Amino acid sequence: MCGIVGYVGKSRAVPMLLQGLHKLEYRGYDSAGVALPEGGGIEVIKTSGRIDDLEKKVKHYGELSACCGIGHTRWATHGAPSDLNAHPHLSQGGKVAIVHNGIIENYMELREMLRGAGYRITTQTDTEVVAHLFEMNYHGDAVRAMVETVKYLRGSYALAVLSADEPGQIVCTRRDNPLIVGVGEGENMIASDIPAILAVTKNYIVIADGEVVRVDAGGVTVYNSLGETVEKEINTVTWDVSAAEKGGYEHFMIKEIMEQPKAVRDTVQPRIKDGMPALDDCGLSDALFENVRNIHITCCGSALHAGLVGKVVREKLARIPVIAQVASEFRYCDPIIGPDDLCIVISQSGTTADTLAALREAKARGARTVAVVNVVASDAAREADGVLYTWAGPEIAVATTKAYSAQLAAMYLIAVRAGLARGTLSEEAARRCCAEIAALPELIERTLACREDMQYLASLYSNRQSIFFLGRGIDYAAAQEASLKLKEISYIHSEAYAGGELKHGTISLIEDGTLVVALCCDPALLEKSVSNIKSVKARGAKVIMVTSVASFQPDPEICDHLIRIPACAAELSASLSNIPMQLFAYYVGVHRGCDVDKPRNLAKSVTVE
Ligand code: F6R
Repeated sequence: MCGIVGYVGKSRAVPMLLQGLHKLEYRGYDSAGVALPEGGGIEVIKTSGRIDDLEKKVKHYGELSACCGIGHTRWATHGAPSDLNAHPHLSQGGKVAIVHNGIIENYMELREMLRGAGYRITTQTDTEVVAHLFEMNYHGDAVRAMVETVKYLRGSYALAVLSADEPGQIVCTRRDNPLIVGVGEGENMIASDIPAILAVTKNYIVIADGEVVRVDAGGVTVYNSLGETVEKEINTVTWDVSAAEKGGYEHFMIKEIMEQPKAVRDTVQPRIKDGMPALDDCGLSDALFENVRNIHITCCGSALHAGLVGKVVREKLARIPVIAQVASEFRYCDPIIGPDDLCIVISQSGTTADTLAALREAKARGARTVAVVNVVASDAAREADGVLYTWAGPEIAVATTKAYSAQLAAMYLIAVRAGLARGTLSEEAARRCCAEIAALPELIERTLACREDMQYLASLYSNRQSIFFLGRGIDYAAAQEASLKLKEISYIHSEAYAGGELKHGTISLIEDGTLVVALCCDPALLEKSVSNIKSVKARGAKVIMVTSVASFQPDPEICDHLIRIPACAAELSASLSNIPMQLFAYYVGVHRGCDVDKPRNLAKSVTVE
C-alpha cells in the first residue's frame, strides 16, 4: 500500500528518491511522483503507472539539482489511478507539497470548509485537503503548521511535507501508518519501510503516532503533539542489505520460498532452551497459560491461516479453546473477550490496520495481548503486552511465504509451552515436540526438492479456470493457505474445502478435468480423505495428492499425481505440505505471465481498513 520516501543531504535528491521508491514497489502501487524545491517554488513530477514511467518523465525535466525532496507510490483508494490523483499534491499557492499514506476519513467535510475559505479542489483524492490545510496553517514554521494541520484530520495517515519557504527540510508525522527516519551522516531519509533508506544508512528511528519530525541535512528533531522535543532511540538494521535484493533469483517470491529453512531456524533456535520452548520474555508465561480461559487469534489473510493451524495444534496439545477470527470482523462483532483471555495477533508487517484495530479492541476489553510479528519495532510489536518475533528477515514479494512459515513455527512453540504449563503434555512429550520443531528447517530443505515436480505440474494445469483444495483437520487449515496463494499469484479462481463438506454443495462444481489438490498428511484422517477424493475422481476430477505419510500407498486410480513430502508429526505437517503448494502457485503464476512479486490490486502492507 502507498509508500513514502524523502531525502535531504549532500547528493541530488532525484536519484535517491527514485531508488527509494523502487525499494517500496513491493508494497503495491499504481502511480508515483516526486516533489523538489526548485527556483523558489516546488517542482512536482508525477504519473500513473510504474516508477520506470516516472523515471522517463523525470528525464524531460533536465538538471534537477535540489538535494531535498519527497516521493510517493500511490495505491488508489479515493479517485482513479491517474496523473492528477497521483501524489505529491500541491497546495493552492504552490508553496507546499504533500505525500500521504492512509485515509483522511473526514475529507468531504474538510473540502467544504476549504471551499468556503476560497480553495479550489482539483483532484478526487482525500489527500489534497491536507496540502491546503497546511498552507492555511503555515506562518513560517512547518513544524507548527503540521501540529495545527493534523488537528483537523480524522483517519489514518503518514504525511511528509515540503515547503518552498524552508527548502532544505522535510517535516513529517504519522497516525496508524508506518514511518521511519533513516539517520545518516550529513544526509537523512524518511520512508515507509527500511529497504528505502539502506542506500544512506542502517540506523533509523521509528516515529510514534502523533510525533512530528523535522529532518534536514544536519539532523533529525522529533517533537510530540505539544511541540516539545522528544529523545528517540536509534535502531540499527541487523540484516544484510543483500537480504532485500533478488540475489540471482528471477523473483523475490522464489528466493523467499527457498529461504524458508533459514527463516524457521532463526525463529525457532533462540526460543528453544534446554529442549523446551522459552517464551517467558514474550509475555507468554506458564502462569498465563494455566489460568487463561480462551485464546483468541485475530489477524488477516495468510497470517490468519497460520492462526488456524495454531488453533488446531493448540487445542490438541494444550486443550485450550482457541477462537481464530478475521481481524476485520473482530472489533465489530462485540467479541466475548476479557481479562481472563489471551489475544494473539499475527502479522508479518506489524502494521496491518485491521489487525492493529483488533489488538486495540482486545486490550480495551482487558485481555492480555501478544503479537507474533516479523518487523522489529512495528506498531503491533510496540502496542501488544508481549511480542514473539519471527525472524524471517525482510519479505519483499507481496505474497507471504517465509514469514508464514516462521509464523507456523511460532504457533507450534506456543502450543507446546501451553500444553506443558497446563499439564496436557508431559515433559517428555514436550521435549519430543520441541526436537521435532527444531528439525523442521532440515525437513523443509528436503521438501524444497519437489521444486521441479511442481514446476512440471504447474505447466500441466496453469490453464485451469478453477482449482479446488481439500483437506481435513490440519490439512484443511493448510489447504486454505494453498488456495489463497494460488489465487493471489495466478488469478485462477480457487477454493479450499474441508474434505467432508464437499458433498454439501461444492461437488456440483466438479466436472471432467477439474483439478483437485488433496492434502493428506494426518494418518488419523487418511481413510476419510481418500473417500472424499474418490467421490471427486468419480466425477472426472484430476487429482494431485500431497502426503507425508510414508506408508500410504494410494490407489493409482484416484491419484493422478502423488507428491511425497518427508514424514513428520501430523501437527507440524502444514510446514511441509505448504512448500509444494507455494511452488505450485509460483510456477502457475510465472507460466501465466503474472507479475508474481506484485500481483494486481494487492499491497504488502495493508494500512487501511
Ligand atoms: C497473502 C498475504 C496476505 C497477508 C495479510 C496480512 O500472501 O501476504 O494475506 O498475510 O495481508 O499481512 P500482515 O501479516 O503483514 O499483517
